[in-house]
Amino acid sequence: MDYAIVLAAGKGTRMKTENPKCAFPLLKTPMIEYIISSLTKTKIDEIVVVVGHKKEVFEEMLNERVSFATQSEQLGTGHAVLQAKNNIKDVSGNTFILCGDMPLVDEMILNNLYEYHMQNNLDITVLSTIMDDPTSYGRIVRNEKGSLECIVEEKEATLEIKEIKEINTGLYCVKSSILFDLLSQVKNDNAKSEYYLTDIIEIAKTKNMNVSAYCDNNSYKFIGVNDLYTLSIVESYLQDEINRMHMLNGVNIVSPKTVLISKDVKIESGTTIYPNTCIYGKTVIKNGTVVGPNSEISNSIIGSNSSVVHSTVFDSEIGSKTTVGPFAHLRMHTILGDKIRLGNFVELKNSKIANETKISHLTYIGDTECGSNVNWGCGCVTVNYDGVNKNKTIIGDNVFIGCNTNLIAPISIGNGAYIAAGSTLTESLENDDFAIARAKQVTKHEYAKKYAKY
Ligand code: UD1
Ligand code: CA
Repeated sequence: MDYAIVLAAGKGTRMKTENPKCAFPLLKTPMIEYIISSLTKTKIDEIVVVVGHKKEVFEEMLNERVSFATQSEQLGTGHAVLQAKNNIKDVSGNTFILCGDMPLVDEMILNNLYEYHMQNNLDITVLSTIMDDPTSYGRIVRNEKGSLECIVEEKEATLEIKEIKEINTGLYCVKSSILFDLLSQVKNDNAKSEYYLTDIIEIAKTKNMNVSAYCDNNSYKFIGVNDLYTLSIVESYLQDEINRMHMLNGVNIVSPKTVLISKDVKIESGTTIYPNTCIYGKTVIKNGTVVGPNSEISNSIIGSNSSVVHSTVFDSEIGSKTTVGPFAHLRMHTILGDKIRLGNFVELKNSKIANETKISHLTYIGDTECGSNVNWGCGCVTVNYDGVNKNKTIIGDNVFIGCNTNLIAPISIGNGAYIAAGSTLTESLENDDFAIARAKQVTKHEYAKKYAKY
């Protein structure tokens, strides 16, 4: 069996935030999810995540998908791997070791490393790369024959070693049968008083084991996120990769540097995404649809040939040939049918609207089921909250709701009913009822002159 141990117990002190580093969001997806999803695309049988600082965050996030080992005190990367000893039950295969803070590592990198490790019959393979600025990384020290001698951490490095640009990416493939014995021999007599995982190289060398550093030249793939600045650099690489993939699939992204799409979003071809748009979560956008500019969509499904302009859509569904916005807000399981028109300054919460209904201006609809071909006038409100409970509004088909109507829930309106503008309804209507609920107008001729002070 082959395993992967992902290290995620560290505090991430250099991030200077409360959030544990490996759970920090990158394009709204926790950093560690990237490495887990790359690992699940390889032949690795089981993933072990070493957690410590705020471990409950990871346990909740990854629960069934991985097994966990706990490192209660963060005594270094070597100590962290050692905590996974009981999780590696079958030592006949290999164990990958990765840091949870390297989200750009993909399955191709992992597969290449594995192939190199197997073909050269190695005990330990370290993945290295060349960084223009190697500061803060462990340096790969090779002997005169060019083979790996040891890894020296920045804090231990002499000026001469600091010049080395080949660095340890923090990605290793190790024969499971030797790993824990080597780790038990690692000491913490160094500048940080930590147990460095990297010390297993030197120990293995003294035992004449086969160790090697395999250099991959795509250095940007191995950026380790240690602070919020590097996070932003990694995020822009991810943004570029994801947007490129969509554009090659036929999605027209206008001004892609201003468009953020998270990794699990699905967008069909023939769609257009305009600037300043964020699309997150498990969103699906079907063909022919236009999203943006200035829109945010999260965990939502948008049907074909629809549009969402200057609007926010959370946890909702939109049918086909429906137009949303400008300035609409859909949330909490709102479901819109087909050919609906939703206009300016309209908020919909937990509501279901059937086909061809028009809600064009300045309206709030909450906890409502509305039929098809209903015309909502400007400025309507479903009064769904009485201060204690949320109440439902039910509206049939072909209803006309005049401007500035309040529907005080719970209430139901029958098919074909007509509500006069300015009404505040407290009672339900049956099919084809007409309701007017406002004070009668009083007109006094010539009276204006008496009051006009201007
Ligand atoms: C580590 C490597 C360095 C390499 C770099 C690549 C060591 C000693 N150094 O340094 O050679 O160039 O990664 O990015 O291994 N962690 C724990 N428990 C701990 C300490 C850390 O789980 O006690 C986890 C962290 O959460 C993190 C990972 O291990 O995900 C790496 O730790 P970090 O402190 O970022 O190591 P670097 O200093 O970057
Ligand atoms: Ca790091």
